[in-house]
Amino acid sequence: MKKRKTVEEIIEKKKCHQKITMLTAYDYPTGLMADQAGIDIVLVGDSLANVVLGLNSTTEVGMEEMLHHTKAVNRAVEQAMLVGDMPYESYQSNISASVGNAKRFMEEAGCDAVKLEWFDQCLDVVKAIREADVPVMGHVGLTPQTAEKLGGFKVQGKDADSARAIIENAKALQTAGCFALVLECIPAPIAEIISQELSIPTIGIGAGPLCDGQVLVIHDILGMFDKFRPKFVKRYGDLGKAAQECIIQYKNDVESGTFPADDQSYHMNKEELKHLRSEYGIGL
Ligand code: KIV
Repeated sequence: MKKRKTVEEIIEKKKCHQKITMLTAYDYPTGLMADQAGIDIVLVGDSLANVVLGLNSTTEVGMEEMLHHTKAVNRAVEQAMLVGDMPYESYQSNISASVGNAKRFMEEAGCDAVKLEWFDQCLDVVKAIREADVPVMGHVGLTPQTAEKLGGFKVQGKDADSARAIIENAKALQTAGCFALVLECIPAPIAEIISQELSIPTIGIGAGPLCDGQVLVIHDILGMFDKFRPKFVKRYGDLGKAAQECIIQYKNDVESGTFPADDQSYHMNKEELKHLRSEYGIGL
């Protein structure tokens, strides 16, 4: 029986000044690794587009791909809270369709909550999804789905006016019913203000050390994604290189005939084999 972390437990961590850990996962093995490591929140991020599907933008994944991957992660996650990232165009145009899509993450893919990025009319969407009893995590600062409008993948809130706007958006999302907020790519002092102003937890990614928790993309921490590496990423290993070395060894073993060896082969009764070989005219 799964005993996953609840919204109340995540909020309680902020109250107790305990840092919240969040990490992305996109399939059964990455879900298992994150969950068994004791991560608090596993996010099936739309970064799926970049790190798993090889696409250029998160705007290129839709509901069906997100649900497909979330279902796989759901099979792995026992103790963490599972959050599904609502993809671009699944919540921007029509409120009842947005609620329907949020419910699909819960009912079809086994999520405990959904995440959505700030956009101009997002507060009504958050309220409607909350009315349908689906917990919502917000996302402010650099919002990759609308990065073009923000001038590209740049740090947001570097001057007082834009910082104030992010702080006010964060407060409005709390009032609309979000239980936590991702703060992406904003100056550390702005993240500190938001974290102090809000009673709900802030989870930073490129937002400095004073958030209530941190999130990173699993492929980035494991060294399995090289296409781009933002300044905020910390690599904890080079699994991409280690995997490549294993694959090269396997290839060499097959080509040289050292794999499979006796250990990896099946055997049969010697007498039976003798008869069979003579039946086919094969010597011993
Ligand atoms: O899609 C994603 O991976 C994200 C986070 C890294 C916050 O939204």
